[in-house]
Amino acid sequence: MTRYAFFDLLPPQATMLDDVLAGLTATPKQIAPKYFYDARGCELFEAICALPEYYPTRTELAIMAAHAPAMAAELGNDCTLIEIGCGNSEKSRLLLDALRPPEFVAVDIAAEQLQVSCDALSQALPQMKTVALRADFEWPLAIPAAAGLQAPRRALYFPGSTIGNFTPAHARDFLSRWAPVLGRGGGALIGVDLKKDRARLDAAYNDAQGVTAAFNLNLLARFNRELGAAFDLAAFRHRAFYAESAGRIEMHLESQRAQSVAIGSTQIDFAAQETIRSEISCKYSIAEFQQLGRDAGYVPQCHWTDAEQLFAVFFFALPA
Ligand code: AVI
Repeated sequence: MTRYAFFDLLPPQATMLDDVLAGLTATPKQIAPKYFYDARGCELFEAICALPEYYPTRTELAIMAAHAPAMAAELGNDCTLIEIGCGNSEKSRLLLDALRPPEFVAVDIAAEQLQVSCDALSQALPQMKTVALRADFEWPLAIPAAAGLQAPRRALYFPGSTIGNFTPAHARDFLSRWAPVLGRGGGALIGVDLKKDRARLDAAYNDAQGVTAAFNLNLLARFNRELGAAFDLAAFRHRAFYAESAGRIEMHLESQRAQSVAIGSTQIDFAAQETIRSEISCKYSIAEFQQLGRDAGYVPQCHWTDAEQLFAVFFFALPA
């Protein structure tokens, strides 16, 4: 039995083909990381989160486990909590258990993941109204009136350092676009991966088991499956490195030879060693992220971090 309302606000499939062709005919070639997350991509991302080299997930979980009551006190339990990029809901569960909000809206592009999460959360917290929105959360949502939300305040929960997958300017614009949806007196709780030594960052995106490589290459497999593309996966290689001056990890798919690949009726030419940039993952200092929040119109209130300062969860408020 479904215990929550589900709304599919995702535009039709045509958008993916248009985006991919625009990205692969641009110089340099690039693809938006949101296309990683088909069912296989979600599975591979879950596997990444459990890797010994990938510290962000377990570090953020430990921060949530230690500080969820303090976070709940900042958020206030009269709010609608809107979680974007809801993932496997482990972190949300810690927060929701402490916060007990009247209403919870989960937003994700991956329908299956969203349903699994909302099933689990609505069963565990039956007194909370749960609403699932399948959407590209990059664009603030006009939450459907049919969802019937009534709480007086709204707060955003954006865990996982997914905000790092935007450039800093894009992250600032993204947060400022959400401000009117949250409204006066609203807030935002955001998980952010912090700057640290290069070796640790490089290892987190080049794991020994090759799961991150499989995650990256799945993008091409997805285009073969869903867009009728003809990528030879053996002719591309995963590359990831920390670009220190930009403060970000870059992930690329590198062509191993000169080749031409058909995507439907379009041919895309690759030179040997030419890459498709498939993701950036920006890392911040505490002060840099607080400034980004201020630039987006929020007032940084507090943050929680781990003993090694690998990761931080920030709480920003909007003026009342
Ligand atoms: C989802 N996002 C925050 C992850 C990251 O670390 O940027 C995605 C990822 N890419 C490779 N490993 C993990």
